[in-house]
Amino acid sequence: MLRTHTCGELRLENVDQEVTLAGWVQRVRNKGGLIWVDLRDRYGLTQLIFEEDSSEKELLEKAAELGREFVVQATGTVIERTSKNDKIPTGSIEIKVSKLEVLNAAKVPPFIIEDETDGGDELRMKYRYLDLRRNVVREKLQLRHKMMQETRKYMDAQNFIEVETPVLIKSTPEGARDFVVPSRVNPGEFYALPQSPQTFKQLLMVSGFDRYFQIVKCFRDEDLRADRQPEFTQIDCEMAFVEQEDILSTFEGLTKHLFANVKGVELEEVKRMTFADAMKYYGNDKPDLRFDMKFVELNEVAKGKGFGIFDDAELVVGICAKGAAEYTRKQLDALTEWVKRPQIGAKGMVYAKYNADGSIKSTVDKFYSAEDLQAWAESFSAEPGDLMLILSGEANKVRKQLSELRLKMGEDLGLRDRNVFKPLWVVDFPLLEWDEETNRFHAMHHPFTSPKKEDIPLLDTDPGAVRANAYDLVINGVEIGGGSIRIHDRGTQQLMFKHLGFSDEEAQKQFGFLMEAFEYGAPPHGGIAFGFDRLCAIFGGSDSIRDYIAFPKNNSGRDVMIDSPSTIADEQLKELSILVNLKN
Ligand code: AMO
Repeated sequence: MLRTHTCGELRLENVDQEVTLAGWVQRVRNKGGLIWVDLRDRYGLTQLIFEEDSSEKELLEKAAELGREFVVQATGTVIERTSKNDKIPTGSIEIKVSKLEVLNAAKVPPFIIEDETDGGDELRMKYRYLDLRRNVVREKLQLRHKMMQETRKYMDAQNFIEVETPVLIKSTPEGARDFVVPSRVNPGEFYALPQSPQTFKQLLMVSGFDRYFQIVKCFRDEDLRADRQPEFTQIDCEMAFVEQEDILSTFEGLTKHLFANVKGVELEEVKRMTFADAMKYYGNDKPDLRFDMKFVELNEVAKGKGFGIFDDAELVVGICAKGAAEYTRKQLDALTEWVKRPQIGAKGMVYAKYNADGSIKSTVDKFYSAEDLQAWAESFSAEPGDLMLILSGEANKVRKQLSELRLKMGEDLGLRDRNVFKPLWVVDFPLLEWDEETNRFHAMHHPFTSPKKEDIPLLDTDPGAVRANAYDLVINGVEIGGGSIRIHDRGTQQLMFKHLGFSDEEAQKQFGFLMEAFEYGAPPHGGIAFGFDRLCAIFGGSDSIRDYIAFPKNNSGRDVMIDSPSTIADEQLKELSILVNLKN
């Protein structure tokens, strides 16, 4: 070992010991005959001191030449500091150095490698390996590591077997585009990278594995957002001989285990909500339950009073912001402008302030009497001091808009505390979703999800109303995981493909292997996959999953450090039979 201790380890008890440390030079302070060096490694920071009186001249000269991020080995005696630094655990001691070895010099780094840095996003991504030296960045990956270990611990204790499934496969549809890989030995043919191991984990159930999990990379070619990366990680799980309830309780168990063992948080029982209620009361299939502000529908009390906009609307719906009647005119105008931005798309907003004196002042006083407004307040269960915000229009659209406004109000009023965790199971998702672009139904989850038995007759008459045995785990408004009870017989799977607009040939070509497997004794089964990066971000209190990935891609899907994607040589293209295709 090139060191006897780490840079985070030494304390007053170690005074007078001879030690050797190795690490990176974070800072050098040179006062002529006295030089201090902050030496950093993964474990902390220790101050080295070089003094003219005791050190040889040569040693002092060597120390004077140290630059930021030099890699050094220093041997010396632990001494008590005269002026202590209570901000770091090693702040009571320093090392009086007697021997210094420069293990490697370093160029001046492009940004300061400390908790507070001067490096912008782009620069830090280009030099990600330097950014990862910073405590605040490394700690996020340590959190990820801990989450991974605790996940394996729990899953192993529950008898799950970790199985690796292949990465070069053919398309598994999860609603995104595939990344494809050309096959050299099979000219003109391509593998697809898995959007998830969905079909393989189902095959493992047919194989009798009974309880499978895998912490696995998935690949989806889709537009990037703060909570999406083209390659991301799932905790992917499947169980045989189970019903929905078994899956929910097993993975509620995993969630609680992680919160207890990684964060020291004892979660209460995870609430349940149907998809229909989530949409009705929160306008969203992943409601943030850290705050209330449930939607209140006002058609009955707001229509028929001569206010055309409400009268013509399919839905008049609002939220009540507790204690926000103090909002100034300026703030309310700004809020109105906010909902009118194209990203939200509301035509306007009506508000009513329930003043402390009991009077109610609205933007539509012309049309509504004091009693009318009182009826609104009752619908909202509003109290003096509250602010009612109301939107109207086509039901689906207006719910979406109000959902955004609700989240903004929650944020503005400080109700979305990152240290509060409100997990929720959203259940009874629709099986199918109408797609305006292609003018047909798509599987809302994926085509292997089973419909609720009692809804199967609706498949022919009202496909949009069929509910699935599908569920999502939502925490603080983020979709953390999703899964379903699967179809496990050929007939139903075929029927499903038919409803999704697949011809028999297409279904056979793409998923014949799975349907055939179902004919060899497939047990009833179901599962779930957690978005592992998202789970880490929630635990870490961040909106962006990027911080929890060692080498993430930027918003254009690029790795700016290794400069990828990149072009490849004509030779290679030819070998892959791609150039030939292009030139034809
Ligand atoms: P689903 O498509 O819902 O289900 O994915 C499961 C979870 O993975 C996370 N996730 C992502 N995280 C980061 N970047 C992305 N691009 C991304 N896409 C998805 C989400 C999501 O909830 N095979 C099914 C699971 C099953 O049915 O068992 C599946 O993949 O947190």
